[in-house]
Amino acid sequence: MAPDSEWMKALIYQGFGDTSVIQLEEVPVPILRPGEVRISVRASGLNRADISQRQGHYPPPPGESEIPGMEVAGVILERSSQARRFQQGDRVMALLAGGGYAAEACVDEGLVMPIPNGLCFEEGAAIPEAFLTAYRNIFELGNLKKNQTLLIHAGASGVGTAALQLVKGVASRTFVTVGTEEKARACRELGATPILYKLEDFASRVLEMTENRGVDLILDPVGASYFDNNLKSLAMGGTMVLIGLMGGSKANLDLSLLMKKRARLLGSTLRGLPLSEKRETVESFSRSFLGQFERKALHPVVDKIFSYSEAALAQTRMEENRNTGKIILQW
Ligand SMILES: NC(=O)c1ccc[n+]([C@@H]2O[C@H](COP(=O)([O-])OP(=O)(O)OC[C@H]3O[C@@H](n4cnc5c(N)ncnc54)[C@H](OP(=O)(O)O)[C@@H]3O)[C@@H](O)[C@H]2O)c1
Repeated sequence: MAPDSEWMKALIYQGFGDTSVIQLEEVPVPILRPGEVRISVRASGLNRADISQRQGHYPPPPGESEIPGMEVAGVILERSSQARRFQQGDRVMALLAGGGYAAEACVDEGLVMPIPNGLCFEEGAAIPEAFLTAYRNIFELGNLKKNQTLLIHAGASGVGTAALQLVKGVASRTFVTVGTEEKARACRELGATPILYKLEDFASRVLEMTENRGVDLILDPVGASYFDNNLKSLAMGGTMVLIGLMGGSKANLDLSLLMKKRARLLGSTLRGLPLSEKRETVESFSRSFLGQFERKALHPVVDKIFSYSEAALAQTRMEENRNTGKIILQW
């Protein structure tokens, strides 16, 4: 039997299915690989992808932990000889490809960021996945330029609430789709023009509000069910970045509109990105935006904090679309 220090608590999926497959277990601590740091996890962020993984639709990339969880905040416990950026005891937040629902996580130091001063662990854990996804897809891939217009679907999601803050002062106008009036209010406060997609056709509303021009960029986590309307909503030469498939993956496409609009359609996932590219995104985001959290120009929107022992309740809240912003597990 290994000593106690080599075991940790972790939430694992015992097979695929509903939240009853989530089990709290004692498992061996992860092995520290060259270039990595070991983090004592104080808070883990929940993501929609954790639910897809639980349902068997989104396995971790090869070689990554089977334990769910793609972001954590905590304290550096240990670093490998090749890792030099952080010291034992530093308060950090990190982007993971898996292994975040656990008391300890090991991650390449290039995917680790200091928690901005003034933020607690729960707020730190709400930053990496949502803000890096928004940053990568809107700025690095979507190439948003000053005074362009933007449509963000699922505006009150973790990713949506991060995206709305990042585009302030860049986009001239940002539309969001949301499911409830309460979410519309939250997005309005973040500077967006909400469209209640269950009550109105979002493409008609976007065209009406842009004098039939459409928007320059669409950030779309919905996929198939929105595809036609997205194309209608896009301006000539516009770009659509597909980051999720909450509305399905099989679309019946009329490619003529894509061609006539000279539109660009991009697909992207952060989790499976090669490490070198992920490091670059983390570095470039950190340089441009980390200071803004300390100045309070940016703030992670935390919906609700649960204890790790309540992970099933936490995932149910997300699955029922009740969150505005991020749901966090506390360790
Ligand atoms: N590609 C990447 O790298 C990447 C990285 C992170 C996240 N993502 C994707 O980004 C999306 C948001 O992630 P998150 O963790 O921030 O999500 P979240 O906080 O759980 O929010 C998702 C929201 O989407 C809306 N929604 C759910 N099903 C929908 C449907 N069928 N049609 C339209 N709207 C629907 C709901 O809001 P309403 O009540 O307003 O409908 C729901 O609350 C997910 O699709 C996720 O997979 C992609």
